[in-house]
Amino acid sequence: MQEIFDKANAVLAAINDAKPATAEELEAFRIQYLGSKNVLKDLFGAMAQLPGDRKKEYGQLMNTLKAAAEAKYEELKNSGGGDRKAKTEIPDLSAPGYSLPLGSRHPISIVKNKMIEIFARIGFTVAEGPEVEDDWHNFTALGTPKDHPARDMQDTFYISEDKHWLLRTHTSSVQVRMMETQKPPLRMIMPGRVYRNETISARAHCTFHQVEGLYIDENVSFADLKQAMYYFAQEMFGRDTQIRFRPSFFPFTEPSAEMDISCFICGGTGCAVCKHSGWVEIGGCGMVDPHVLENCKIDPAKYSGYAFGMGIERITMLKYQINDLRLFFENDVRLLKQFESAL
Ligand code: DAH
Repeated sequence: MQEIFDKANAVLAAINDAKPATAEELEAFRIQYLGSKNVLKDLFGAMAQLPGDRKKEYGQLMNTLKAAAEAKYEELKNSGGGDRKAKTEIPDLSAPGYSLPLGSRHPISIVKNKMIEIFARIGFTVAEGPEVEDDWHNFTALGTPKDHPARDMQDTFYISEDKHWLLRTHTSSVQVRMMETQKPPLRMIMPGRVYRNETISARAHCTFHQVEGLYIDENVSFADLKQAMYYFAQEMFGRDTQIRFRPSFFPFTEPSAEMDISCFICGGTGCAVCKHSGWVEIGGCGMVDPHVLENCKIDPAKYSGYAFGMGIERITMLKYQINDLRLFFENDVRLLKQFESAL
């Protein structure tokens, strides 16, 4: 009886001492202790010869043996298959490294940064304001009190019952904040996200981005506005780009205009992008209304200024010929990957 136990303990010691060094030796270990005709099976067979009171003890020893063989095998396999050669071999240091997938900037960020860079060159700094706004900054200070019909121009998301708090419908609210807190001269652009309660389609979304521009100083004229816009259009869309202004209305500018650029796709001869007119609209602008200056405690007798607002999505769609606004918000890598080289 003791012989049977001794034999099993000897096998356990052999398992613990085994040091298979090559892949072949590891395989031999596997066949010997874990294969279909392994040593342990013979030892199990000997259990029948034991008296009942030692069977349990022997069974436990068998389990220990099996677990030891399995653990040893796993450990050696994971640490290089028992192959001494693989462990000591020097890797090929001249082999090319693994290439890491690189992300890319979103097209909206690319165009926003480009706009910041273009305006920075003519002295515009960057300012930002909150997306949750109050009525004063988004509407009232900008010449649009509560019952003014121009409020219908923008479908507002109100976030308080009394309509005091809202999600800003345009970045013009930041103009007010800047004029209230800083003294002229002011020359800044204000990029940011805006919100409107619109049905989502290829041409409209409930959230999008604008860049607001503001220049306040003594003797600022409409000619200055035109020159800044002309410079911007050429830097953004190419040297051949022409601009034109159409009379328009905004409650915060007087006079107000809508600005078009000559269609850079067809060069003005007419195509699907410009709907065969040769021109595409890129934003609104005008001379800051004296009432707005007064609302912000700036003396309209001393100072004048111009302002403009452009949609970043709109400019991006034109520049990269993207025909569905929704693509900007889906983050489909098939779209984003196309901008890897545009960084
Ligand atoms: N806030 C206007 C809009 O969202 C755009 C705009 C027009 C901004 C004229 C201006 C401006 O600063 O002068 O439709």
